[in-house]
Amino acid sequence: MDYVDDIVNDLDQQAVAEIMKYNTPSLDNYNDVTSVAIELGKRLNANLSVIKLGARFLDIKLGEATEQKKTNEHVNMALGFAKEFLAGYPLEEDIKQKVFACITEHHTAKFTCIESEVCANADCYKFLVPKKILRMFYEWRNRGYNFEQIFLLAEEKVDERWKALTLDICKKELEDNYNKIKLFLDVARKDPVNFVTIEQQVEEKLRDGE
Ligand SMILES: [Fe+2]
Repeated sequence: MDYVDDIVNDLDQQAVAEIMKYNTPSLDNYNDVTSVAIELGKRLNANLSVIKLGARFLDIKLGEATEQKKTNEHVNMALGFAKEFLAGYPLEEDIKQKVFACITEHHTAKFTCIESEVCANADCYKFLVPKKILRMFYEWRNRGYNFEQIFLLAEEKVDERWKALTLDICKKELEDNYNKIKLFLDVARKDPVNFVTIEQQVEEKLRDGE
């Protein structure tokens, strides 16, 4: 275990405390974004020390910012948290700066290092994997959203995150998922009676000899 893994252990403890307190981001998303970012980082020969830290910081203040009704501030809040947290460790300055870039650039389309681009793309998997969409309905219900609100948000997030992908390997891997999720959400907009009516129309046409 190297030094960064020691820092990661300390960070995980603080992140879990934030997650338990604010219920956002979910522990599931915190872990998944990190795992995806590390896998992408390996494939793109990125610096894994930066990614292990950067991915964990991205939304670490999302819950607190959301509770204070300033969700857009979660990036600056996470940056402040990361600067204070990492000040306690003798980490190389170059690594620290790249970790900060991962945080500040994770909702942008311009990246100053590959690690930052990897983290931003990994963050998009939250809404481009079927299991995550189903889990979103479950988790957002627990946060007080009703079915229609979650449905609308799911439709929005799927498109938003698909457009935000910048890495070709991610676009290639997720294109099929994106199309299937879009189709499913489109079909899911229809009420059961719509399907019955279609069947009836076919039967009527058959009776009429059409
Ligand atoms: Fe974010």
